[in-house]
Amino acid sequence: MDAPFRLDDRVVIITGASRGIGAGTARAVSHAGGSVVLVARSGDDLAEVAASLPGQSRIVVGAVEDPAVPPQAVAAAAEMGDLWGLVNNAGISPAYAPTAETSDDDWQQILAVNLRASAAFARAALPAMVAAGKGGRVVNLSSIAAFAGLPNLVAYNATKAALDAMTRTMAVEYGPAGINVNSIAPGTITTEMVQQMMDTNPALAEKFVSKTAIGRVGTVDETAWPIVFLLSDAAGFMTGQVMLIDGGRLAAA
Ligand SMILES: NC(=O)c1ccc[n+]([C@@H]2O[C@H](COP(=O)([O-])OP(=O)(O)OC[C@H]3O[C@@H](n4cnc5c(N)ncnc54)[C@H](OP(=O)(O)O)[C@@H]3O)[C@@H](O)[C@H]2O)c1
Repeated sequence: MDAPFRLDDRVVIITGASRGIGAGTARAVSHAGGSVVLVARSGDDLAEVAASLPGQSRIVVGAVEDPAVPPQAVAAAAEMGDLWGLVNNAGISPAYAPTAETSDDDWQQILAVNLRASAAFARAALPAMVAAGKGGRVVNLSSIAAFAGLPNLVAYNATKAALDAMTRTMAVEYGPAGINVNSIAPGTITTEMVQQMMDTNPALAEKFVSKTAIGRVGTVDETAWPIVFLLSDAAGFMTGQVMLIDGGRLAAA
């Protein structure tokens, strides 16, 4: 794996790093020379990802919505050096129902993981970046769902749009400290879950592909490397933006 952008000596916290885009981002950051703190609930999967990396890593096993976990991740980062980056990647969409059938419990769960936990990680990480005095990066995992009214996903869509608002606010607040904050908004990316869905439901697979300008869905690597770009010096003058990685899906709308 040749790294198009370098993150040598940079320490990055990645939430939801046990599989999917988070694990792919951990691999990409590590191959770019960075050190990573991997956060998720499945300790075995985290250990497997950590063992596959060429560089330094620490794992923090816990739920992102547990208030004890963000400070643990920041402390684990400090064992490897000054904290440079935070990737708020952990995200869920457990409810699939129209608005009138989306319960308050669904809302609470999705808000807690997708939005409040991202704010809590930022609350823990930003002071460490400011104290180190070298600037830094935050990347929030949004979605095309922030822009398109994807049916049956009202709470998920709302949390992703809110994350983008958080990105812009944090960018303005922390720009003077040299901390750039951006969102990545993927279209359909073939993580395990999405690939399984497509394998068992060819009509759905066809629907995903036909809506994408370049005629296919995206891979985890095609999402992870743009995240590395945003974490790198190459994105030094880019902040408060939402970068679409959707194969032209919204362009085609
Ligand atoms: N794949 C796509 O097509 C796509 C498209 C647009 C946006 N996105 C966004 O990209 C991000 C990653 O998606 P993905 O497809 O890679 O998801 P995924 O394969 O389902 O992986 C989710 C990751 O988050 C972790 N996680 C979930 N709930 C958690 C919690 N409460 N506490 C700690 N960790 C938790 C999971 O680990 P554990 O289960 O071990 O905790 C796992 O590592 C999400 O924010 C998603 O909304 C994905």
